[in-house]
Amino acid sequence: MPRTGAELVLLFERGSELPADRSSLLRLDGVEGAAAALPPGPDATLCRCAGITHGAVEASVRSGCATVREVSSGTRAGTGSGTCHSEIRPIIEHHFAVATA
Ligand code: FES
Repeated sequence: MPRTGAELVLLFERGSELPADRSSLLRLDGVEGAAAALPPGPDATLCRCAGITHGAVEASVRSGCATVREVSSGTRAGTGSGTCHSEIRPIIEHHFAVATA
């Protein structure tokens, strides 16, 4: 349950309270959670551990970051659990595939 775990880490690190409907955390990794996450807008959170948005990661890639490590250095995305690496990688691959096409 990577999304649930990452959300719990983010809530803990921010000192936030759990949602009133705590079962909503368990649904983050289910079909509903996946459907709700698509398509992510620029303000949607990509890295729950660091609270970094898709837009920030995309901007980092547009500015030349070509690896997850470079994106992490510039944005802090991916510096926690690492769960979001699988979301950062396709953004990099898509950007450079389009850029070289
Ligand atoms: S979601 Fe944990 S490092 Fe990004």
